[in-house]
Amino acid sequence: MQEKINELLELREKARVAGGEKRIEKQHAQGKFTARERILMFLDEGSFEEFDMFATHRCTNFGLEKEKYLSDGVITGYGTVEGRLVYVYSQDFTVFGGSLSETVANKICKVMDQAMKMGAPVIGFNDSGGARIQEGVNSLAGYAEIFQRNILASGVVPQISAIFGPCAGGAVYSPALTDFIMMTKNTSYMFVTGPKVVKTVTNENVTVEDLGGASVHSTKSGVAHFAVDNEEEGIAMLRQLISYLPSNNMEEPPTVPCEDPINRLEDSLNQIIPDNPNKPYDVKTVINGIVDNGEFLEVHANYARNLVVGFARFNGMSVGIVANQPQNLAGVLDINASRKGARFVRFCDAFNIPLVTLVDVPGFLPGTGQEYGGIILHGAKLLYAYGEATVPKVTVILRKNYGGAYCVMSSKHLRGDINYAWPTAEIAVMGGKGAVEILYSKEIKGIEEPEKKAEFMSEKEVEYTNAFSNPYVAAKYGYIDDVIEPRNTRFRVIRALESLRTKRLENPAKKHDNLPL
Ligand code: HXC
Repeated sequence: MQEKINELLELREKARVAGGEKRIEKQHAQGKFTARERILMFLDEGSFEEFDMFATHRCTNFGLEKEKYLSDGVITGYGTVEGRLVYVYSQDFTVFGGSLSETVANKICKVMDQAMKMGAPVIGFNDSGGARIQEGVNSLAGYAEIFQRNILASGVVPQISAIFGPCAGGAVYSPALTDFIMMTKNTSYMFVTGPKVVKTVTNENVTVEDLGGASVHSTKSGVAHFAVDNEEEGIAMLRQLISYLPSNNMEEPPTVPCEDPINRLEDSLNQIIPDNPNKPYDVKTVINGIVDNGEFLEVHANYARNLVVGFARFNGMSVGIVANQPQNLAGVLDINASRKGARFVRFCDAFNIPLVTLVDVPGFLPGTGQEYGGIILHGAKLLYAYGEATVPKVTVILRKNYGGAYCVMSSKHLRGDINYAWPTAEIAVMGGKGAVEILYSKEIKGIEEPEKKAEFMSEKEVEYTNAFSNPYVAAKYGYIDDVIEPRNTRFRVIRALESLRTKRLENPAKKHDNLPL
């Protein structure tokens, strides 16, 4: 019997070195960890249970029957993160460049199926040369099987993709179907077609990094939600991200003990809004000042920075925060900010994470660039996302809230549950200057002397501002539930969220919605 046990142990040892020491060294030399190291770093110590360690490919093309490695290009299984069950797969670049064979696909599909049965998140570490070239259509079929599972799991269990190496061609579409994409700077890339094809087709010269590196995708395209300097930082962030999320759509997000006093007053907020309404301030100061321990995990930190989104806690409860950022483009809503916000709001709604919205928005960005790019449809996405969301929605209007953006930003009319305003709030159809130019256009034309014209306009502007640019008109109609002192915001938001714990709201039954795309 010992002989048989020894055989098992030998096979396990063989599987652990996968593509061999040389290839492992090459991986390390590039500043990358191996597939197995990544899983072991990511999961709670000693919690990893591996599946299909003895799986090998079944391909006989191009002499491949003579080259087999145990595990065949991906390591899969389950374990825990802070004691909570998660499923993992990690593509192994040391075996045929982590390429996807039929066997690799079957292994990934197995953990995805298991995760769906158990209602647990799936985390995939991507590091792959794409379809296993020798396997042809069997590899393509494998990708499609994974895509189908990504689609069915969407909104049921959280799906997170860590891109820690190459991810190119059709292979990019599995991460794209997941909830979050993380990329490591300089060691990962994602593109549908690589630099060589780009050169042939469009005659553009572009490097791998400039075409699909972490910087590009976390700033320009918005494909990546997180860009990290190295894998250790990325893995720590993945664990943090998971700590905010429920394991599936039937669960509430986990709560953690809160040591930050719930009635803590943040006096600095009483001074944060500048006297000049055109002066910016950093909305992240407000966020950090009101959430538990100032801890905020920002998503899409460097993409569409005019809108800030991310996860935080109030009295230990997870929330999704959406906030206009006056410091970037005056916090205006444009195409990218709308798409970013909509995706985040829909994620939170799918996974029962309450939304806290901090509003300071001058409106939608004007211009042909925006109109030709379809701001009508993209802006509608954010509107749609807020309107369909049934999770608790708490809104605090900090300053500007003009025009259509007023409706969009979790207003009472889109089923905002508790809507507060600071005394500095300005809620109106448009800013004073624009309103006066329209309302008094005839009178303005009739005044010839420039000085008198300016005097008349500023007088009317003050009149308009006094009448509309305050929270009390909206409060008069019940569109605002209360006007609150800024330094009390933490306490008031916590109370609001506590009161909404038992919220029950359902949308009408339908096959699925028809979100503007
Ligand atoms: C089989 C592959 C492979 C692949 C790499 N290898 N990609 N084997 N199928 N797709 C093998 C190499 O032969 C090599 O084997 C080992 O993996 C490491 O590869 P290197 O080229 O030495 O590594 P590196 O220099 O780091 O380059 C990495 C790479 C390059 C840029 C990813 O390997 C590459 O361009 N590979 C091909 C990419 C590709 O065209 N894939 C198909 C795309 S189409 P040895 O034995 O030397 O270690 C596609 C369609 C998906 O993916 C559609 C889904 C719908």
